Amino acid sequence: MNRTAADPTSTVSEPARLDVHRTEADADEALRADARHGLTATPKELPPKWFYDARGSELFELITELPEYYPTRTERALLEESADAIAKASGADTIVELGSGSSAKTRLLLDAFARAGTLRRYVPQDVSEAALEGALEALGREYPDVELQGVVGDFTRDLDRLPRGGRRMIAFLGGTIGNLLPADRRQFLQLVRDVLEPGEQLLLGTGLVIDPATVVAAYDDAQGVTAEFNRNVLHVLNRELGADFDPAAFAHVALWDAENEWIEMRLRAERAMTVRVDALDLTVEFAEGEEMRTEISAKFRPAGIREMLGEVGFAVSEFWSDPEERFGLSLATAL
Ligand code: SAH
Ligand code: AVI
Repeated sequence: MNRTAADPTSTVSEPARLDVHRTEADADEALRADARHGLTATPKELPPKWFYDARGSELFELITELPEYYPTRTERALLEESADAIAKASGADTIVELGSGSSAKTRLLLDAFARAGTLRRYVPQDVSEAALEGALEALGREYPDVELQGVVGDFTRDLDRLPRGGRRMIAFLGGTIGNLLPADRRQFLQLVRDVLEPGEQLLLGTGLVIDPATVVAAYDDAQGVTAEFNRNVLHVLNRELGADFDPAAFAHVALWDAENEWIEMRLRAERAMTVRVDALDLTVEFAEGEEMRTEISAKFRPAGIREMLGEVGFAVSEFWSDPEERFGLSLATAL
């Protein structure tokens, strides 16, 4: 794979190129800032993007196969049903995907856009270099005629450096938008709108508000895979920042917040602990029972989705949902 850290605008045409908009030094600095801020805040918190080292990305893939975790299979069914209509309505020659992970479901879009005869280029962007490398390796074999241009980057900061030109559709699937807090979400959508030209599209996957018991089960599965995914952030801090968290001493908590309509994942200290974070020269005290928030996963209502997209300059042209209305897929055009 051709890794171009210094020249993200290079035009080398190879089946699988990886542009690095976030170097390891950038990531290290961002992790330090987030950990210092979050571990000294009251209550303590850590942003979910730090789940996704190679192990975290693997655990997420395992989550997508759990019987309780309905979002992935529901969105996949929606894509199976709608991909040809999306391709026809869009006419895009470039699909840019944010937080693309393994790009598993995206193949449905790539196939439909190829059938429509418009697909030229696929640009998956993710913070996880490991996930991107794995995806590009396989995609290069499966789509030899498509220009693949992976981008290691943070979708909350590096959008302005995504490739321009052609006719683009940005895909943001999986319900990952729900992992952003409301203010970050709005800022993010504004950035997405700003990088698009009028007439280009956003394809947005969103979890919908459903009965809380089903959501809680999806985030607290019987096999404990989500619990391991949640604790993985502590392994990341131990390895990257020389911390000495004992992950086994933290319990996985998944709670439905009815007011905010989001599921919240937390880690609860099962005993009082003093944790050292060497790279930050920081000592952190946890009281027994203290909870640290590690993720929100907001669920949406169709009217709210139209409104949040409308506020930043998108018009929703199509909305697909499953019969149980658990997940929504919106196709929106930049005005
Ligand atoms: N889109 C895939 C993967 C969802 S998991 C799906 O629908 O199955 C969320 C993905 O977003 C992970 O691959 C993670 O590495 C990535 N991610 C999380 N925060 C990110 C950020 N701030 N910038 C870029 N990628 C991010
Ligand atoms: C990536 N994101 C949409 C997942 C979600 O459902 O919020 C992450 C996840 N967290 C726990 N399980 C899966």
